[in-house]
Amino acid sequence: MNLKNSLRIFQWKFWMYRGLKKSLRQTKQRDNPVIKINKAVYETIYNRISPEEKTWINKIEKIRTNLNADKTPVSIVDFGAGKPDSKRSEKVMAEGITHSATIAETCKIASKPSVWALLLFKLIREFKPQTAIELGTCLGISASYQAVAQRINQQGRLITLEGSGEIAELAKKNFESLRLDNVSVITGRFNDTLPAVLETNHPIDYVFIDGHHDEQATIAYFENLLPYLSPQSLLVFDDISWSKGMRKAWNKIIRDKNVKLAVDLKMVGICLIEKKTILTGN
Ligand SMILES: C[S@@+](CC[C@H](N)C(=O)[O-])C[C@H]1O[C@@H](n2cnc3c(N)ncnc32)[C@H](O)[C@@H]1O
Repeated sequence: MNLKNSLRIFQWKFWMYRGLKKSLRQTKQRDNPVIKINKAVYETIYNRISPEEKTWINKIEKIRTNLNADKTPVSIVDFGAGKPDSKRSEKVMAEGITHSATIAETCKIASKPSVWALLLFKLIREFKPQTAIELGTCLGISASYQAVAQRINQQGRLITLEGSGEIAELAKKNFESLRLDNVSVITGRFNDTLPAVLETNHPIDYVFIDGHHDEQATIAYFENLLPYLSPQSLLVFDDISWSKGMRKAWNKIIRDKNVKLAVDLKMVGICLIEKKTILTGN
């Protein structure tokens, strides 16, 4: 590993450490879910991985290495927010923008780095969600981490949503090569696919939101998810500092009365949900 990468990992782990400390100072509660979040973050920071976990993670990272070297072009329909300063209109995001990139470029730009993927893995190992959803599959790297964690837990399944058809097919191949039968990919825009996924699979115990980093869209996904969540659940938002809009969305979401604890790790935000009201859908 080169110096630049080592420094980046050090910085991310510092964000994890500082964010966790800060959020724990804001709550006196040290009950089970708070302890679980604490443990997942610390195990990530200190890279505490059992031999069984290591075997699986090595397999996923081998897939990442192959993807990172694959110069095959792939056509991508992007229903997301583009770049932090793109200011795409709702209409443009709904129609999608088609472009071409190599598998390597796509993997390097979009897939969660191993440190953050390990955090998702550790959260799932601790919380043992029966039903988990991911918004934004891409090539299936983070989904593999999460589904493997469920596989080691010997319980739970992951439903992962991806708008871009060719990318979704590549993710499916990666899950097949890992022989993961507890993960399914749903292809289509989140707005088109999420309602049916929630209706068919609730109650939902865990969601990783890693696509469509638009302020209003992120708030809308949170509001759409809420009625279908278990009485206690975990929502993990990626890229909460990616743009001013994402920061605003995060700041609004954490003020919701159902958010018991919000952990701001700068790149990723974790919300522990404890429902105050029984909403329709559950
Ligand atoms: C950052 S990537 C996900 C990376 C993946 N979670 C990982 O770490 O391996 C976001 C993905 O979400 C998809 N996406 C973005 N907006 C979407 C939308 N509105 N509907 C469906 N898919 C969308 C993109 O096509 C892209 O593949």
